Amino acid sequence: MTLARSALCLINYSRSSRCLGNIRQISSSSSNLTLTKLTSELYDVKRGPYGFVSDKDIRTFESILGEQRVITDESVIESYNVDWLNTVRGQSKVLLKPKTTEEVSKILMHCNEQNLAVCPQSGNTGLVGGSVPVFDEIILSMQLMNEITSIDPLTGILQCQSGCILENLNTALASHNLTMPLDLGAKGSCLIGGNLSTNAAGIRFLRYGSLRGSVLGIEAVLADGRVMDFSSTIRKDNTGYDLKQLFIGSEGTLGVITGVSILAPVKPSCVNVAFFGADTFEDLLSLLKLAKTSLGEILSAIEFLDSSCMKEVGEQLGMPNPISEHPFYFLVETSGSNAAHDGDKLDLFVENCLESNFAKDGTLATDLSKIQSIWNLRENIAEALKCKGYTYKYDISLPTIKMYDIVNIMRKRMGDDCTVYGYGHLGDGNLHLNVVSKEYDANILAQIEPFVYDYTASLKGSISAEHGLGFKKKKYIGLNKSPEAISMMKNIKQLLDPKGILNPYTTLPS
Ligand code: FAD
Ligand code: MLT
Ligand code: ZN
Repeated sequence: MTLARSALCLINYSRSSRCLGNIRQISSSSSNLTLTKLTSELYDVKRGPYGFVSDKDIRTFESILGEQRVITDESVIESYNVDWLNTVRGQSKVLLKPKTTEEVSKILMHCNEQNLAVCPQSGNTGLVGGSVPVFDEIILSMQLMNEITSIDPLTGILQCQSGCILENLNTALASHNLTMPLDLGAKGSCLIGGNLSTNAAGIRFLRYGSLRGSVLGIEAVLADGRVMDFSSTIRKDNTGYDLKQLFIGSEGTLGVITGVSILAPVKPSCVNVAFFGADTFEDLLSLLKLAKTSLGEILSAIEFLDSSCMKEVGEQLGMPNPISEHPFYFLVETSGSNAAHDGDKLDLFVENCLESNFAKDGTLATDLSKIQSIWNLRENIAEALKCKGYTYKYDISLPTIKMYDIVNIMRKRMGDDCTVYGYGHLGDGNLHLNVVSKEYDANILAQIEPFVYDYTASLKGSISAEHGLGFKKKKYIGLNKSPEAISMMKNIKQLLDPKGILNPYTTLPS
């Protein structure tokens, strides 16, 4: 199904060949790439004491990868230097595309010896500025490490290289009646190694929990080229420290993930989506409670968006609202294995929602295309806001009951030059607070930060619920972690990457 296209966002919205699969092509031909200022101009940051890539280094890389996979053509590298949001821009002059763990190992060994900084990159859909270089770090693209090693239909264990596209893994698993325990709007572009490195959460978190629980093993290459084989496929193993967890969520600062084994759950045979309009956020909370109590074990996602988001997906991307207009929208998905059982539960739930008056209007989707068009509304908010202007993006955990207060606070705080949006993973207490202005403005940023982070910390929330710290948020880590914890993180970094060549400007404060 192809929906409306806007000038800036030439996108195909079908579930199988998602818009995000085309990011790179769009980016490289799009003029707004060149409008993105260099990170080093926008932010006060100094280049670290790293070497500069010489012709001799290029020849060494060519001897490892062959000439074709050592890219120095600036027009090709340009899109790898800019993030998906078009908000940060590095100055790398070298892009390397390994196909094997051995190649990654040889590259890192050389970089470590020569003191060359490296930025590991997967699908480049990260939202915190960690997936692109800040200065001239060598970009290590994982795109060509895309082989699925095995799928065990009995145990549900998937083994693959880390450069597989999330959506491709899901498709491969589907033929064995299995599914990925992770789903997110960027599925057509993000790679499983990038998902692990950010510990991505997404819309199935409510059902399957953190990736940390589903990953059975990983293979990672350390900064000096040593290959750490934690590629276990056993489910229960309490022998010593669980070292693979260090690499999950470490945003490319401790090693490069090259291989993964994941436990894939059975693919639910019946999926339904209900979508409601509500008048207040308090009504959404009542719907949340109703959904939890009446849908229980078949619940698979609970999401929300406010009317400002609905307006933008309509105006920027031409996606129609399937129900009448309301200040808030509530999306609930059920997944199960017995259509009659799930249908009965859902019918009763829908009846309760409308009778209780918490929901003012609603629609139930049972066929795939309608389910998809409802999910498209939610999953394309980030894209719609990007089309509208510059996005200041906040991804915070808050006590669910207070989750929307900050959106109202920010609407009062920000002037008419910005629009404030609220949406997110309601079932997980994870708000996406987005502020959009016509273009980047340091004064607007100063109005938002550190205010939003201080507010979040005062409620004992998380300043980064699922996107990571990257380059943009690293200086606020102290709001969530104690000095002792940060010092221990620095010790671990020092142990695994003593020269600090891996993503040097990311995650940990300078
Ligand atoms: P990249 O962006 O390329 O990299 C992310 C980070 O990991 C960088 O720091 C990079 O250096 C590091 N890295 C990448 N690969 C490796 C590797 N193999 N080894 C070591 N380090 C590596 N996130 C959520 O949690 N939930 C969501 O619902 C969600 N929705 C999104 C929707 C959209 C439209 C977009 C654009 C992003 C969304 N994200 C979401 C952000 C999310 O972090 C990424 O989409 C995804 O997890 C990053 O994967 P990637 O392959 O693009 O990694
Ligand atoms: C989402 O849930 O849509 C993603 O995390 C992306 C975003 O925050 O916009
Ligand atoms: Zn999210």
